Amino acid sequence: MGQKSSNPVLEAIYSRRSVREYTPEIPPREVILEILRAGIWAPSGLNNQPWRFVIVWNPGVKEKLAQLTRYGEIIRRAPVVISVFLDKAVMYHQIKDHQSAGACLQNILLAAHALGLGGVWLGEILKNADRVREVLELPEGLELAAVVALGYPHDRRKRAGRKPLETFILKEIP
Ligand SMILES: Cc1cc2nc3c(=O)[nH]c(=O)nc-3n(C[C@H](O)[C@H](O)[C@H](O)COP(=O)(O)O)c2cc1C
Repeated sequence: MGQKSSNPVLEAIYSRRSVREYTPEIPPREVILEILRAGIWAPSGLNNQPWRFVIVWNPGVKEKLAQLTRYGEIIRRAPVVISVFLDKAVMYHQIKDHQSAGACLQNILLAAHALGLGGVWLGEILKNADRVREVLELPEGLELAAVVALGYPHDRRKRAGRKPLETFILKEIP
């Protein structure tokens, strides 16, 4: 288990874990839009809001995406899959725009968790980023950041923990 907190934001951060198995229940479209709304309230450099989303409910399209990653079974199981892209037309700095996409993705995962859904950030599929774009019939001006599988949690897998905080603090300069 993660840390406990009575603060709702911290509680959500500490209790969120990647969810890779889902119940068959289809999340309402409004809930998915709320999750994406949380995504777009992430910070971005120059407030350029470079993220773009493709929402896939269609089993045939999900199957095509599933074939592009070794984690395809997660995509097949998830009732809805969000592909997050960066719009090259508004990007201004490779690292900073990717950091913005990461912030957006984390907001999406936290919002999903807060609303009773579960999700997982799928990065392995980036090896086939161009083919993902083709499956989704998008132009070259969109760069895949990640795919997020979402649904109501039915997850019996062991949950990832974290090393102690001290591991990560290189030094403290008083
Ligand atoms: C950049 C990135 C790429 C990831 N790619 C995958 C992936 O392809 N498949 C997968 O099952 N999980 C993937 N994950 C999820 C991580 O495995 C997971 O976040 C990590 O093990 C910590 O577990 P937690 O999210 O439950 O705390 C990815 C996470 C990130 C941030």
